Amino acid sequence: MEVVYLNGQFLPKDQALISPDDRGFLFGDSVYEVARWYGGYFFDLPGHTGRFRRSMKETNMVWEDEAKLEEIFEELIERNGIGADCAIVYFQATRGVAPRNHAFPDPPVKPTIYGFARRHNINTLAAERGVAIWLTPDPRWNRCDIKTTALIANVLPYQEAHDQGFAEVCFVRNGFVTEGAHSNIFFVRNEALYTHPENNDILSGITRKNIISVARANDVSVVEEAVATDMIPYMNEAFICNTTGEIVPVTRISDQVIGDGNPGHLTRKLQVLLREFIQSCDPHR
Ligand SMILES: Cc1ncc(COP(=O)(O)O)c(C=O)c1O
Repeated sequence: MEVVYLNGQFLPKDQALISPDDRGFLFGDSVYEVARWYGGYFFDLPGHTGRFRRSMKETNMVWEDEAKLEEIFEELIERNGIGADCAIVYFQATRGVAPRNHAFPDPPVKPTIYGFARRHNINTLAAERGVAIWLTPDPRWNRCDIKTTALIANVLPYQEAHDQGFAEVCFVRNGFVTEGAHSNIFFVRNEALYTHPENNDILSGITRKNIISVARANDVSVVEEAVATDMIPYMNEAFICNTTGEIVPVTRISDQVIGDGNPGHLTRKLQVLLREFIQSCDPHR
């Protein structure tokens, strides 16, 4: 039986009831987070919980039990008997329940807090062979740095890409590649890594940050500069990254083959280095 967390309680999923007046449902007035459990420990939990707290702060949401966040993540794993399996924990806060009105509820109401854990294994085929991704103009708002559940502008282009057989869609803003619908993107040119700088045009990915530090620790040069779409043909390698997939090589972007059409050697090296770093974070080792 799946056990979820809802507003201070752990309960069977079919007993977790949310009001139709919830602002997450009515407005997408809601933020979320996804962390990965590696069969015994979370990888970079402070990175994820820190970003969740930031998302709440940037959207003016206040949760009185915020200090329990890390404990709840652990308890979701425990109560679902996940232990030695790999999983994700999904966690969400909405501005709460109030009659529909654009203004924040006054007086403020408690946020709705929901979380679940789900077994999840990495897509090893994609990580091994690489994927094709599709490039399209970025239809999203100006605060892509906030991890909000208002994801329709991610979902629609993603579905279009998916229907054409692409594994991800990546967005273009002002002629530059920003990020994927649910991933960040890196390029390799002349043995240096290029990725979009941290600003309002991208979500600051926890995987992105860890890749940058692992790369720098291993003397790989990292340039936090956006890549113009007309430079894509000159890139030797590309990869996308996120919590659920780690590093996935990109072998084609729309109809442009990247490098020789196979995962690049630096991409392969970073896959290994990131995995080693993740394993080195296992407190039971
Ligand atoms: C828009 C977007 N960018 C980047 C990422 C990658 O972030 P992370 O590495 O923290 O999973 C995600 C993850 O879902 C995302 O939704």
